Amino acid sequence: EKGTYPHYMLKEIDEQPLVMRKIIQAYQNEKGELEIAEDILNVVKECDRIYIVACGTSYHAGLVGKQFIESMAKIPVEVHVASEFSYNMPLLSEKPLFIFISQSGETADSRAVLVQVKEKGYKALTITNVPGSTLSREADFTMLLHAGPEIAVASTKAYTAQIAVLAILANVTAKSRGLNLGFELIHELGIIANAMETLCDSKEEYEKIASEFLPFTRNCFFIGRSIDYFVCLEGALKLKEISYIQAEGFAGGELKHGTIALIEDGTPVIALATQENVNWSIRGNVKEVVARGANPCIISMAGLETDEDRFVLPAVNELLTPLISVIPLQLIAYYASLHRGCDVDKPRNLAKSVTVE
Ligand code: M6R
Repeated sequence: EKGTYPHYMLKEIDEQPLVMRKIIQAYQNEKGELEIAEDILNVVKECDRIYIVACGTSYHAGLVGKQFIESMAKIPVEVHVASEFSYNMPLLSEKPLFIFISQSGETADSRAVLVQVKEKGYKALTITNVPGSTLSREADFTMLLHAGPEIAVASTKAYTAQIAVLAILANVTAKSRGLNLGFELIHELGIIANAMETLCDSKEEYEKIASEFLPFTRNCFFIGRSIDYFVCLEGALKLKEISYIQAEGFAGGELKHGTIALIEDGTPVIALATQENVNWSIRGNVKEVVARGANPCIISMAGLETDEDRFVLPAVNELLTPLISVIPLQLIAYYASLHRGCDVDKPRNLAKSVTVE
């Protein structure tokens, strides 16, 4: 039940700190260390390449997961949109492992790939919120999200839960391969949960951003580099899905290769700047769009901020920033939808789970 909340989406956004803590608990052993099932760990360690297959928001979580698994566990990862993968399968490695990411566990496009993969005799792990769902039953292994029921069509807490579970998978694998990461994930996730709470307490700020930048616009761009780019894709999907504003996420460096032609006087451009190594270059991209008339809204992270920033996120581990940088984007989308009089929880033309191919 949504209780005192006007919409499920708002309630589910607010549940994210709690979900983070539930995940920490669920994947913790008696010694207080993060742990995953031994058979899953073995299959991850044995594979020579991971193929992540998913749709929509779950695909966006997969892009972040690739970054985690490659940088922590040093296993190469490809991320594929399920509906493309089933008709255009790439050349597979010798010992592939498939990871299906699906909130509902019922997405038909992902299931079609799982069926093909099982026919070929490959191993599959499903990361899902729903125990006993089709994708969970038909895969060899399951990791649960522990996010509780997600009712709003726009996925929010499942996205951050997917990212946290992928971080745990990457981290536990890295440790068991003897790789030293220089940080304790369990501790960093605790910091994330607190930061999420702080962010959820700043709602008036996002409401202001939504009413300043988005009430009458036809379109909106999200730009970022590196891991911020993946969050931009998710921010854009959230906004278009529930507010019907045409929104696109772009890699900052790609703008000048075509997209910048779309920038007009007043075009809102939301930029994420949470990564030190690309901080100067994404700010350069912001200058390029401002020179063409864009209305910029920079969201940065403490330690990297400048006077021009509209919102500064609390400092967290740099690799884990998607867990918090997405929250302002979820809430900006929520308020944009609300202000434009759209049906926040049940946007037009969409269903919560897409059970047709
Ligand atoms: O249940 P799934 O995670 O497999 O669903 C995949 C997509 O249909 C889903 O994430 C969709 O993109 C959401 N409505 C986005 O908010």
